[in-house]
Amino acid sequence: MKHLKSLNESQERKKQQYTVVSKDSVKYIKRFQVFYESIENIIITECEKSKDSYDFVSKYLNIFDYDSYINNENLYQVCAFDNDKLIGVSIFRMKDSKIHLNYSAVDESYRNKGINKKMKIKIIEIGKENNCTLITSNVRQSNIASIKSQQALGFKINDRVDLKYPDGEKKIPLYLNL
Ligand SMILES: CC(C)(COP(=O)(O)OP(=O)(O)OC[C@H]1O[C@@H](n2cnc3c(N)ncnc32)[C@H](O)[C@@H]1OP(=O)(O)O)[C@@H](O)C(=O)NCCC(=O)NCCS
Repeated sequence: MKHLKSLNESQERKKQQYTVVSKDSVKYIKRFQVFYESIENIIITECEKSKDSYDFVSKYLNIFDYDSYINNENLYQVCAFDNDKLIGVSIFRMKDSKIHLNYSAVDESYRNKGINKKMKIKIIEIGKENNCTLITSNVRQSNIASIKSQQALGFKINDRVDLKYPDGEKKIPLYLNL
């Protein structure tokens, strides 16, 4: 019922927006509508570590072994759900008033809708609530989606260090002062 109601509300909003915009703006509004409607039912929340979320991230990234993940008491995570379906996980370490973002993954069919940014916003909130002063991360130079979604939230590139992954790709260190 809730889902039906929100669909009707969004259809109503769509109608209203189409009537107020000029022809030139329709393309932009259409793009905005797709973004808005497709993430309307998405819940972003801190969530317990589990085999399901480990398996989800492992599908996309070569992450540490399950025991290290589940037993490390400094590792936490934020998840994104579309109703009950897990569609995103962001794992981070929080220790000594600092957060390091370890791994983030979003289901392919939900990418480029701002889910990763929303998960990072939640982590920033958690950091502030826990009096953290700094968030850091390392991203492969080729991972434009990851770099862009962090820069959009104010993360800066630390260009004072020159780091590489074992395979030779440049490592981009990012940071955000809270
Ligand atoms: C990285 C990842 C988590 C991003 O998730 P997402 O929910 O799609 O990210 P967002 O939608 O919040 O932001 C992505 C941004 O990158 C942009 N982008 C994506 N691909 C791009 C490309 N090839 N060129 C330029 N910009 C690109 C998007 O347009 C968006 O920016 P915008 O909001 O300014 O338009 C997702 O791509 C993923 O799961 N990748 C596989 C795992 C991975 O690489 N994880 C990160 C390393 S730990």
